[in-house]
Amino acid sequence: MLPSQSASVFFTKTLLKWHHEENERTLPWKEESDPYKIWLSEIILQQTRAEQGLPYYNKFIAAYPDIHALAAAPEDEVFRLWQGLGYYNRCRNLLETARNISRERKGIFPGAFEEILKLKGVGPYTAAAIASFAYNLPHAVVDGNVYRVLSRYFGIELAIDGNEGKSFFQQLADRLLDKKQPGAYNQAIMDFGSTICKPKAPLCESCCLARNCTAYINGLVDELPVKEKKSKVKERYFDYLVLCVGAEIYIRQRTGKDIWQNLYEYYLVEHRGNQSYTDSADWEAIKSYVVKQKGPVFSNRQRLTHQLIHSRFYIITLRAKPDILTSGMWISKDSLNNYAFPLTILSFSDIKKYF
Ligand code: ADE
Repeated sequence: MLPSQSASVFFTKTLLKWHHEENERTLPWKEESDPYKIWLSEIILQQTRAEQGLPYYNKFIAAYPDIHALAAAPEDEVFRLWQGLGYYNRCRNLLETARNISRERKGIFPGAFEEILKLKGVGPYTAAAIASFAYNLPHAVVDGNVYRVLSRYFGIELAIDGNEGKSFFQQLADRLLDKKQPGAYNQAIMDFGSTICKPKAPLCESCCLARNCTAYINGLVDELPVKEKKSKVKERYFDYLVLCVGAEIYIRQRTGKDIWQNLYEYYLVEHRGNQSYTDSADWEAIKSYVVKQKGPVFSNRQRLTHQLIHSRFYIITLRAKPDILTSGMWISKDSLNNYAFPLTILSFSDIKKYF
């Protein structure tokens, strides 16, 4: 059941009071009214903490001060700026949307919620954030922060990943939204969720809402919000072959429906874990060219949302370029910095030692 009108008003008033008087989080997009900058910040902040996204936001604004500048940028350059931020689909959609708005709409950002929602890479959360921050339209954001704050404060035990829960939290968020200052309200709940009502070790002792917080009063802070499903993690095993011929090295751009689309990588052999690259069919075609092989010279693990990537790196010196290597390209070892690589590869930062 939705909370009473007076309980809703108290929550909203207290939250906004905290925002205006105590919220010390200063972030450059907060005082912005330029929809381009707000859109850019919200795309960066999808699945990324504000503190982590901030340097990227600044780099993007410095390189592309308006949507036409971003639209005109070469794809490799934009991916290079995005490098390290993860979820590279966001970067691809960002560029596609910038090009669309620049060409089809003369650079004018859409101003209605439904139109904003149609932009590639923009879901209901991001659309509500942009609509409220840029145009003060009354749309409530609902994301992980909001689920956490509302489930704890109102003691809601409905699973946030079930249909019933999703619909209930959306109704509740719509009711709590301050329709006169939706932008301030949305910013308040986002900041409150990430600085006070944090997932781990929330600051309940100094929280302005604690007195009326159901979870705090009943010792349920660590139990809420409730999730139905535990997400399954798929383990993957990558052997990266750093193929070298003289001063050149082989890299390939990732395509297809998989992680790290558009980013570059060394020659990859993926296997089931108890194998190695020497068991692969490709190796049969490459091995007659091998002069020297060394490794693994480096290995690591990277945890993505639904995957755990185990990587090993081998330095393989070849006497010539094998004919089967047609999908990638040979670049000078000195020009590696011109390409965007996933963090798994960047973490092998000592690679130059082997050249
Ligand atoms: N996360 C998503 N959007 C945000 C914003 N505008 N400020 C802080 N964190 C956010």
